[in-house]
Amino acid sequence: MRRRVIAGNWKMYKTLVDTRAFFSSFLPLVAASKHCDIVVAPPFTAVSTAVDAAKGSSVAIAGQNLSWSKEGAFTGEVSAPMLVEAGCRYVIIGHSERRQLFRETDDNVAKKTLIALESGLTPIVCLGETQEDRDAGLAEAVLSRQFNGGPGALTPEEFSRILIAYEPPEEFSRILIAYEPVWAIGTGRTATPEIAAEAHRMLRRCAGAKFSVRHASALRILYGGSVKPDNIHGLMAQEELDGALVGGASLDPKSFAALVNFA
Ligand code: PGA
Repeated sequence: MRRRVIAGNWKMYKTLVDTRAFFSSFLPLVAASKHCDIVVAPPFTAVSTAVDAAKGSSVAIAGQNLSWSKEGAFTGEVSAPMLVEAGCRYVIIGHSERRQLFRETDDNVAKKTLIALESGLTPIVCLGETQEDRDAGLAEAVLSRQFNGGPGALTPEEFSRILIAYEPPEEFSRILIAYEPVWAIGTGRTATPEIAAEAHRMLRRCAGAKFSVRHASALRILYGGSVKPDNIHGLMAQEELDGALVGGASLDPKSFAALVNFA
């Protein structure tokens, strides 16, 4: 059984005041929720405030991006050690908005994934096809290119590790993948549970071919794209879906808590 994850991506929303208000409403609503991992990715400016607000709860904080370098003359960038120092445990990498608007490439995604792992962060690597890719029958080709050029460029040991404390020893994936079809992000047009599950199976096959069946079955794959309280049931009924990466519906404490509690 893979443990589910519900992660919220706030994108460029919420001030420090908004961040404090969110956590004071949200935390009591999920205080009893031990069944899944809960992650919130605020903008960089609100990371420390979010870390303080979430202290003592099971909510982990994520960066929305990071540099592929540990330090250097890179104006405007934030490094993995800086995120760790600020209290982040996860980082989102390769979101489609970064790929489309900021020219993030598969190669950048691979470098960022590696530096995140070296710094002790859990990468949430996003990939997904556009509507044009899907219409042209290229969805699988795009996903497999993004997988193999990004997280698939890791070594098997970087990708996951064996937990010998368990009998029999268990493979534990060090990264999360988020399948986010670009046509479903922020559009209100969520993928059907069947389309999402098919893409997840295909990504798991990529992980199996690149690494091993054990690596593939330990990998947690989240679905993202217009996940809302009224469609989470159908999505989570698919056992291929190990959780969700949520944009719009993560901004409201009640709707995000509803997603956590349904997962
Ligand atoms: P959405 O965003 O839930 O608003 O579609 C998802 C995402 O961008 O991760």
